[in-house]
Amino acid sequence: METLEAINQRRSIRKYLDKPVEFEKITTIIDSARKAPSAGNLQDWSFIIVTDKNLIKQVASYALEQYWIATAPALIVVCGLPEKHEMYYGLRGKRLYNIQDCAAAIENILLSATDLGLGTCWVGAFEEEKIRTTVCYTF
Ligand SMILES: Cc1cc2nc3c(=O)[nH]c(=O)nc-3n(C[C@H](O)[C@H](O)[C@H](O)COP(=O)(O)O)c2cc1C
Repeated sequence: METLEAINQRRSIRKYLDKPVEFEKITTIIDSARKAPSAGNLQDWSFIIVTDKNLIKQVASYALEQYWIATAPALIVVCGLPEKHEMYYGLRGKRLYNIQDCAAAIENILLSATDLGLGTCWVGAFEEEKIRTTVCYTF
């Protein structure tokens, strides 16, 4: 699929087939995410793949009652590492560049998933602390 085709085809999908996503597809998607541009090339992100059904359900319950999330066979939790940016660019790095870098990575995720025939939805409404303690063991 050409880039413009993926951009034109992508749309938010909120109901998914009960079918696991191939591991190769997930690694291809993560690879596309880490190749996104980042300010100062700091790559201030971390990607957590969640495929355990119970964990996915738990994450969905922390996303402001968006229970459709629980139908997804895989989640990619994008974690920003703002402190990394703060060391180099102060508050601007922490508050702006880190968010922008993660957003660029997320867009790559959505477009590469579209290219691979997968439906996705960017989810921004969730309880950060609860998600952090549920899926991020080291952050
Ligand atoms: C920062 C951001 C946060 C979003 N959060 C949610 C969300 O929590 N739940 C949801 O269903 N869609 C969410 N979306 C998806 C938007 O609703 C969707 O992209 C928009 O309505 C346009 O539709 P499209 O993606 O099909 O083009 C989010 C999108 C962005 C960019």
